[in-house]
Amino acid sequence: MKRRNFLKIIGSSCIIVAASGGTAGYFLSEPGVSYPDEPWHSAGSPYEEPRMRALSYAILAPNPHNRQPWLIQLDDRMGITLYCQLDRRLPETDLYDRQIMIGLGCFCELLRMAAAEDGFDAQIQWFPEGLPDGNRLSESPVAHIELVKGSSADPLFKQVLNRRSTKEVFDISRQVDDNTLAALKDNDSEIQTSNDAELVAKLRNLTMDAFMVEIETARTYKESVDLMRIGNKEVAAKPDGISMGGAFFSVMKNTGLISRKKIADPSSQAYKQGISPFRDIMHSAMAYSWISTSGNTRLNQVEAGRQYLRLNLKAAELGLSMHPISQALQEYPEMAMLYKELHELTDTQSPGRIQMLTRLGYGPQVGFSPRWSLKTRIKT
Ligand SMILES: Cc1cc2nc3c(=O)[nH]c(=O)nc-3n(C[C@H](O)[C@H](O)[C@H](O)COP(=O)(O)O)c2cc1C
Repeated sequence: MKRRNFLKIIGSSCIIVAASGGTAGYFLSEPGVSYPDEPWHSAGSPYEEPRMRALSYAILAPNPHNRQPWLIQLDDRMGITLYCQLDRRLPETDLYDRQIMIGLGCFCELLRMAAAEDGFDAQIQWFPEGLPDGNRLSESPVAHIELVKGSSADPLFKQVLNRRSTKEVFDISRQVDDNTLAALKDNDSEIQTSNDAELVAKLRNLTMDAFMVEIETARTYKESVDLMRIGNKEVAAKPDGISMGGAFFSVMKNTGLISRKKIADPSSQAYKQGISPFRDIMHSAMAYSWISTSGNTRLNQVEAGRQYLRLNLKAAELGLSMHPISQALQEYPEMAMLYKELHELTDTQSPGRIQMLTRLGYGPQVGFSPRWSLKTRIKT
């Protein structure tokens, strides 16, 4: 295998790594280390209690940097209180917890769908103690959810275990046709799509530029580097953040050829060599979809999360690969120009704020992303 074939960048933001996908298939066994995807295999099955069954699916929701910020408290009836674990936020790239809130929106939509599968209606009250003061989330509950008898199954639920974020190069010989985009959109007016060659070319450049801004801004790059889990042991010990598992990383880590410190150094080979493969990823986008909202309130963000979860499931149903790319949507000043440019480029179709932008195409099948077990997400 040529070096460039296994050099690539993964991560929910911008990480330069050499990898083999970081997924279960490549997670070469090491004594005492197993790939932390058990929650995907056991979803639903070990639980009789309806809330636990629904929650065992909800923890599989997409979420920024795979931080899995959800914390759950069960009451002695059929209620669930959802909190955000505040130290799982991304203060540099997600200054106002907007992306974290979208992830919590995804979580609740998946919870709702899973409960409906068992004949329960998940009645969600957002911010039952009121919205937090200021621009950030707080210790107060994000939502209170009550399961009440009576709801019918959602056809998209079948795709829950097929859903992925595909952080790979897509097949550039395969177009995403208009019919597929129309099916993806499914008449939802807040979801926009485009396979227009001129716009796609501009967005490929813009998203790559935004990636460069993020890695060239020391504090935002550091945030990602700090969240890297390098080698199988780290991935198993902390099944969140940016997973760099697999035989290659484990060997590199164990021999001292790779470390967070080396990756963080812009003069290192690891840093420099990672950029061009990421360009291949960005430039293999064959179409885009984006979700915009007319405002940017917490409820707008929750709604964007709900829509994104459904969009991601719909993509799975259509056999389409989807990869969120959020750099140009971020709020820190260095990104302001690209944020504006992105909104100008897409303005004719989507007034308002873009909450999610995804690249679309046909990529390889990837494995499950790591997850903390449900029991670790229950507040004691
Ligand atoms: C609000 C939000 C923003 C995201 N932004 C990015 C991103 O910029 N780059 C990326 O590779 N993935 C991004 N993702 C995808 C997450 O990294 C992914 O959901 C997480 O790693 C778990 O993987 P899974 O979706 O395959 O289960 C984002 C997801 C959400 C919900």
